[in-house]
Amino acid sequence: MTTPQQQKGPVTAAECRALYRIIFSRRDVRSQFLNTPVDDAMLSRILYAAHYAPSVGFMQPWNFILVRSLETRRKIHSAFSKADSEAAEMFPQEKRELYRSLKLEGILDSPLNICITCDTSRAGPVVIGRTHISTMDAYSSVCAIQNLWLAARAEGLGVGWVSIIDEDELRRILQLPEHVLPVGYLCLGHVSHFLEKPELENAGWLPRLDLCNLVSFERWNGQPGREDEGIIKQLRENADFPQKKQQPG
Ligand SMILES: Cc1cc2nc3c(=O)[nH]c(=O)nc-3n(C[C@H](O)[C@H](O)[C@H](O)COP(=O)(O)O)c2cc1C
Repeated sequence: MTTPQQQKGPVTAAECRALYRIIFSRRDVRSQFLNTPVDDAMLSRILYAAHYAPSVGFMQPWNFILVRSLETRRKIHSAFSKADSEAAEMFPQEKRELYRSLKLEGILDSPLNICITCDTSRAGPVVIGRTHISTMDAYSSVCAIQNLWLAARAEGLGVGWVSIIDEDELRRILQLPEHVLPVGYLCLGHVSHFLEKPELENAGWLPRLDLCNLVSFERWNGQPGREDEGIIKQLRENADFPQKKQQPG
């Protein structure tokens, strides 16, 4: 029996550049939302992109809860505000002021919020690939979120992830059953513009790390061997690759 196959080899150079451009220009958006509604055709495309993410054992553990009502968003915002005040106290004194100055959500500024969940019971108790590391199902929902985020950027929509919310409070507001985890709460909408750099980088909270220091060989912190010299050199040479404008076409 022959099964249909995809064409082997890379996509076109223009498509490849477009993908890199989307990846490097994606931003977590908090402050640049416009209150323009998101077109249903566009939203459906983005949701399909999320639904075509990889998942452990193909269990597709995700659900997408679309939250539009101002009433629900206000409840979520109030849960955020409480958690945000608590969070500020957890940082050392010298970082607290800077933390308080950060805007870390766009719950009411964006017209649409989406909660992506993980139904741990989706494919029964024993799932291919989840037998020995139980968190693999939640990671699958994270893959769906990343697909959604990139597709939204391709469509010109901003996405902001809000995680500063008490999990039980989020479960209560969205009436999640026990076996369903809230993996990501996203704010989504049209934006005035996308920032060049992460807001936390701009604010001096943390810098982007040097990729060369994050790659090791054969084991944790393993030093490079002879055959690794090429990739080290290439990583250094490509340090400005993300900043190059990958113009499609
Ligand atoms: C799991 C996760 C949780 C996050 N939670 C928040 C959050 O609660 N509030 C916020 O403003 N940004 C949140 N972010 C966004 C990060 O701050 C952001 O991705 C990071 O600063 C890099 O910026 P960039 O996404 O624009 O590249 C979260 C991102 C991830 C992946």
